[in-house]
Amino acid sequence: MLVRIELKDVEIGMFVHAFEGSWFDHPFWRRYFRVETQEQLDRIRNSDIDGIIIDDARGRGPADGCEPVAPTQIWRAGRAPVSGQAGSKAKRVRAGGALAPPQSSADEAPRRRAGYAGECRRAKRTIERSRAAVADMFDGARLGRAVEVRRMVQLASAIGASIERDSRALINLVRLKEKDEYTYLHSVAVCALMINFARHLELGPQEVEDMGVAGLLHDVGKVAVSDQVLNKPGGLSKKEMRSVRSHPVAGHRLLASSPGAPAVALELCLRHHEKIDGTGYPGGLKGDELSLAARMGAICDVYDAVTSNRPYKQAWTPCEAMTAMTQWEGHFDPLLLDRFADSLGIYAVGTLVRLSTGELGIVVGSAGEADEDVVVRSFFDCAMLAEIDPVDRAIAPSAAHPRIVGRDSPSFWRFDDWERLRARILTLAAPNEASPQTAGAAADAAIANAAVRSGS
Ligand SMILES: [Fe+2]
Repeated sequence: MLVRIELKDVEIGMFVHAFEGSWFDHPFWRRYFRVETQEQLDRIRNSDIDGIIIDDARGRGPADGCEPVAPTQIWRAGRAPVSGQAGSKAKRVRAGGALAPPQSSADEAPRRRAGYAGECRRAKRTIERSRAAVADMFDGARLGRAVEVRRMVQLASAIGASIERDSRALINLVRLKEKDEYTYLHSVAVCALMINFARHLELGPQEVEDMGVAGLLHDVGKVAVSDQVLNKPGGLSKKEMRSVRSHPVAGHRLLASSPGAPAVALELCLRHHEKIDGTGYPGGLKGDELSLAARMGAICDVYDAVTSNRPYKQAWTPCEAMTAMTQWEGHFDPLLLDRFADSLGIYAVGTLVRLSTGELGIVVGSAGEADEDVVVRSFFDCAMLAEIDPVDRAIAPSAAHPRIVGRDSPSFWRFDDWERLRARILTLAAPNEASPQTAGAAADAAIANAAVRSGS
């Protein structure tokens, strides 16, 4: 049963189903989870949210005196206006009762947009400082000097601070790198992605920092590979491929002789080209043999590689990248890949997502100047529990409303034959609020090219 309780009544062992109040005020990325640590408990109690909804069937129950709240009451409490609903033809379909997460209030939108623009200006300076410092670090490594780890920790800290202020600004900016600045900015990008991912997974502060440092250092072994080979358009000879594939071991050796390098940095450096099915290099490790850092790093490394312009290929959009990566069986940990998509709010074509309008939609492609907007075809009204006329919307990463609240579950909504429903929605010609560059064809081509060298 779902029960509303006051923050002071939350206890370890309770299962959080929803937060009341502003979505931005709640202190967690995850929507549903069990309170397992004192730190989580403290964050809830010290937050600005109004109250909390727990599910006592999935965790510890409330103390006496707490009033049960029906799902519809919770839904109305957090519901935002549903756009595009007027005039739509409602058709009843089977769906489970469900809750929408609390929405932001209207006056938060301009504040959030101003915050994004301001953070972009700060992030540009952080990126430039980081690029110069990573270039220095690579130059020193070429001369045989040990890595100055303390400087990398300071950089990771600055990048982490930017992500803490606004998780999208620096990540979006560093993706738009030029071909000739790839090597250094790739390290900055992987650092930012690792920090954002680690925060999303709710790792501790030290682990988050170490993951960031590991991202900055993961490709330092490339100093052992000539620029001519690294930037060569077209295929590589066997000898050149052997040289490229030597960089994890070369980097690990360099870091092992660099005082203060975190263990996780050595691990990521050595293992970021391993694959979950054991076909990666240098060790051919698979499954549980791979550490969390190695599995996270493999995802972040390839995501940044394929969304960047390279001498031998054009960048894919974030949506195309996620679409392709979810289809590379055996390459990544699939559960972790889903969490990575959640951490960025970038989803593969065909993913069911919930919008802040209170609608469900399917991701159909990308749009916008830098292809960073996600185009979502909304087709279902969560309040009415009914299918609606589909509308395509391009949703910018910084949008306050409508925005993508998160991935949703077809089984939660009891869509009995989800594959068929999805295929039907995807083949509909929806009216545009956007001009999507649908990812289907582009992703097919991308998969065909499939990055033998992705992340190299
Ligand atoms: Fe690499």
